[in-house]
Amino acid sequence: YETRLIRNFCIIAHIDHGKSTLADRLLEITGTIPKSKENRQVLDKLEVERERGITVKAAAASMFYEYKNEKYLLNLIDTPGHVDFSTEVARSLSACQGAILLVDASQGIQAQTVANFLLACDSFLEVLAVINKIDLKDAKINKTLEQITKEFGIPNENILKISAKHGTNCTSILDQIIEKLPPPVCDRQQNLRLLVFDSYYESCPIVIVAVMDGVIRPGDKIQSKLTTKTYTVLETGIFAPERMRAEALYAGQVGYVICDTKISDTVVGDTWHHLGIDVKSLTSFKIPRPMVFAGFYPIDESNYNQFEQSIERLSLNDTGVRVQTDSNPAFGKGFRLGFLGLLHMEIYSQRLQSEFGQQIITTIPGVAYKCKIIGKDNIKQHGSDLLLISDSMKWPDTNIIQQCYEPMVLGQIVSPTICSLPLKILCTERRGVLIEEYSIDEKRTLFKYKLPLAEIVYDFFDQLKQITSGYGTFDYEDSDYEAANIVKLKILINQESIDELAVLCHSARAKAIGQDIVSKLRENIDRQQYKITIQACVHSHVLAREIIQPYKKDVGAKLYGGDKTRLMKLLKRQEEGKERMRQIANIEVPRQAIISVLKRN
Ligand code: GTP
Repeated sequence: YETRLIRNFCIIAHIDHGKSTLADRLLEITGTIPKSKENRQVLDKLEVERERGITVKAAAASMFYEYKNEKYLLNLIDTPGHVDFSTEVARSLSACQGAILLVDASQGIQAQTVANFLLACDSFLEVLAVINKIDLKDAKINKTLEQITKEFGIPNENILKISAKHGTNCTSILDQIIEKLPPPVCDRQQNLRLLVFDSYYESCPIVIVAVMDGVIRPGDKIQSKLTTKTYTVLETGIFAPERMRAEALYAGQVGYVICDTKISDTVVGDTWHHLGIDVKSLTSFKIPRPMVFAGFYPIDESNYNQFEQSIERLSLNDTGVRVQTDSNPAFGKGFRLGFLGLLHMEIYSQRLQSEFGQQIITTIPGVAYKCKIIGKDNIKQHGSDLLLISDSMKWPDTNIIQQCYEPMVLGQIVSPTICSLPLKILCTERRGVLIEEYSIDEKRTLFKYKLPLAEIVYDFFDQLKQITSGYGTFDYEDSDYEAANIVKLKILINQESIDELAVLCHSARAKAIGQDIVSKLRENIDRQQYKITIQACVHSHVLAREIIQPYKKDVGAKLYGGDKTRLMKLLKRQEEGKERMRQIANIEVPRQAIISVLKRN
């Protein structure tokens, strides 16, 4: 295919603005897929994507379209809409020359529309603005036009108005793609340079690639720039949208390569070249930094081996996740996993359950703090003077800590203006600092806040939705670490610490978190022969306390008369219950009590 007849583009939009629906329409118009209801959202291959209706991993599809008597090859690269996956978005964008910016006419510009537009600009993409869902009764077409012009500087007359659902004006998008978006700039005569931009497993590893220079064919010997491993190419092809063999992939094309690789060998963002013909690396990708950490454990401990295998398999396919083994007296053996964000974590645990059939317990998510320590010997012992710690059990002694730092984010919130006051109260409670606010239209305001990540990983989004009756949207990007007073909140039962319940948090939040934990424990621990004191402390200061008075337990007491079998059953049940007890300072703490504190939801 001549390079001038190729267009590589993506669709970027806020969640639910209709990206997958538009992709389906474009594939139908070009005859790539037949018109039928079953074809809904063909790009969303993963089961979890279909279930939740959002795109997680990038997918690609090629289509042919005739325009002014010439046949064009259009490669659509699907990108996720959510910020947690912005590394996936950036990667996909680097294989495109243009982007369709899709905005829902009833919703207008949202937080992620802005974030995605900026990503596209960073990648120097030509942007085609499109207003979708013009068929809706509450479509505000003129207002949305105004917003796009004001926010992105795109002239009114260049903005298309469509209904992806009904196909209205969708053909003109294809015409515009050819007219307005540039073809890729590449050279087929040059040595092969190929960008690995994704991979997935389907009976063998399938590597999704963009060929930047040269040609790749089955039989070629290739080498990875990053790992220096070498492979033989077994098959090349394009996605139409199912895999379709092609005898070669040329510069400017997007498609797949099957090699004798293991899936674990493919590094997303890597450059591949012909063996012995070295080239310069393509874009250097930042390895995504995990931001949110949580423990993952199998509900049934005897299932650990299978659980471990599933975690390994799923993580190989997900470059954003960091895996460490972990164990905990309440849950047994498991893993501590790092994620790019909360949604990423949710999707991961859902995939673990739906695709791998694993029954899991996850713990409340936390973040990684930085800790500057003093003393030559201490530094030597820890291997550095600046420690990155997400696990409270690894927190150093207070007397060697010089300064702690916490991760911050820059958040963009779009909310109905009438909700501004409660929204500001929420952000202030969460230690946020307002940086900027301005109205997008007469009813909505955009707020930019600097917030500690630790304050948004837990239920911030739920609160935001509640305050704004579901209308508020939120998006964030990483910012730097800032100095903060981080403390280790210890939980004690009769003076003995329950290590796995210790929490790292900002000193201003310690009391509230402590109160919440001790009251949960109180609710879940039965009276026993001894008095039980439950405390939450920072250093030696007690911030919260609950007392459970002693009580001689007599399981038979509540039974009338002499129903022996019932009494036996009850005693047996109590016996069974004992197995799940944990002995702390001579007090029997049910596993369930600890789970009630650690577990999410
Ligand atoms: P993510 O993959 O999560 O980013 O979502 P998406 O942007 O791909 O949205 P999707 O295509 O799943 O559409 C979201 C919802 O909007 C679906 O229920 C669609 O049926 C609906 N929708 C999409 N386009 C239109 C349209 O033109 N008109 C109407 N009325 N509904 C539409």
